[in-house]
Amino acid sequence: MTAQRPGWSSQNWSPESWRARPIRQVPEYSDQVGLAQVEQRLGAYPPLVFAGEARRLREALALAADGRAFVLQGGDCAESFSGYNANAIRDSFRVLMQMAVVLTFGAGVPVVKMGRMAGQFAKPRSSDTETIGGVTLPSYRGDQINGPEFTTEARTPDPRRMEQAYNQSAGTLNLLRAFAQGGYADLHQVHRWNLGFVERSPLAGRYRDLAQRIDETLNFMAACGMSSLNTPQIRETEFYTSHEALLLPYEQALTRVDSTSGDWYACSAHFLWIGDRTRQPDGAHVEFLRGVRNPIGVKVGPTTSIEDLLQLIDILNPHDEPGRLSLIVRQGAEKVLANLPALARAVKKDGRTAVWLCDPMHGNTISTASKVKTRDFDAILTETKGFFDVLAAEGMAPGGVHVEMTGQDVTECIGGARHLTEADLGTRYETFCDPRLNAEQSLELAFQVAEELKVRRSPLPEQVAAQ
Ligand code: PEP
Ligand code: CO
Repeated sequence: MTAQRPGWSSQNWSPESWRARPIRQVPEYSDQVGLAQVEQRLGAYPPLVFAGEARRLREALALAADGRAFVLQGGDCAESFSGYNANAIRDSFRVLMQMAVVLTFGAGVPVVKMGRMAGQFAKPRSSDTETIGGVTLPSYRGDQINGPEFTTEARTPDPRRMEQAYNQSAGTLNLLRAFAQGGYADLHQVHRWNLGFVERSPLAGRYRDLAQRIDETLNFMAACGMSSLNTPQIRETEFYTSHEALLLPYEQALTRVDSTSGDWYACSAHFLWIGDRTRQPDGAHVEFLRGVRNPIGVKVGPTTSIEDLLQLIDILNPHDEPGRLSLIVRQGAEKVLANLPALARAVKKDGRTAVWLCDPMHGNTISTASKVKTRDFDAILTETKGFFDVLAAEGMAPGGVHVEMTGQDVTECIGGARHLTEADLGTRYETFCDPRLNAEQSLELAFQVAEELKVRRSPLPEQVAAQ
């Protein structure tokens, strides 16, 4: 047995204690022997992340809890085996960096960067089965579990896919670490980043203007003796990984004891979250995540009651440790103003510390007349603005944003500066799951959020006069 830190409540917890709890969204593996073999092999593989990194992230998130940092969490709805290539990883990383630069200028505080990358492979589904033309098969649950093709073979959950997901996560993480530390995130590259699609977009002017201001700032800093040669902060960045902790056999196999603290850490990613469909307080997913010391999140959808939320906070962050728990609000553009005030007030009244993140994607998914899943950029902006308004009215800090995006020039969400319409969705609709913001829409969202943050940071003269 491992000694746990005094005060840390993982009483009656073990990496497998979730197995005694009711569980939702699990695949049925017919090959139980194969499953056990894969779990055993994964249990012997090296961890993907280290406890010290997860601790550093927790410290960074603690700052976001009270407005001294801002979180940018983004990436695919679901990573896929077929979409695994260096260019796609590079492009998503690059857009996240661009967004982060924009947000740093807007927020005036450090931006904590977290990818929905290097492990985001398992998906909850609203139905266990899918029927097409009278044929019913298990739903596609993400490449870590089964395949998207509508055949019995592809849809049968295959435990060996967990190993492929592990290997792909390791390869992705290796590249992300190289980009983050090896100079690709250098602020001096901002102009080079500017040369791609942004130049052709209607946003080019605004982006160029901002890039120029950053450049002037860097020149000023260089004149004062600070350059990327002697100031690593200009050249390098911290980049963290995150995914939904849905497939618990996989998560358990990668859960390890940290030799310095004796605590358990989930080593598949720095940050894990519980989805809106698996957040039952007595359920398996909550049980698993309560015992690992990583920073964690829970989705807060429109059916989350105040009682549920306070109970979840009690279980997941019993000692009210700043940075431990992020509440990822995903209410939808129409519900955020109605539902968030009471939730935020209750958490504040209870004296609880949380990082409040806005996921303006999952409450705004719609289906077109021809049954294509999409999201309207305007609804995404409306929810984001509503989130900022509610927290400001409650005197609370917005902790950050959580988005589904890609560095590719896809056409999956309608609206945005190029006014994509339903008719455009067929051009490049590539997601394996939910519709993502494309590179340009992602940047546009970052500009809008930056402006929100800037306005709130420096009150308008009339607001000052009214105080
Ligand atoms: C997701 O983040 O991809 C997801 C499924 O979200 P939610 O649990 O909020 O529906
Ligand atoms: Co999604």
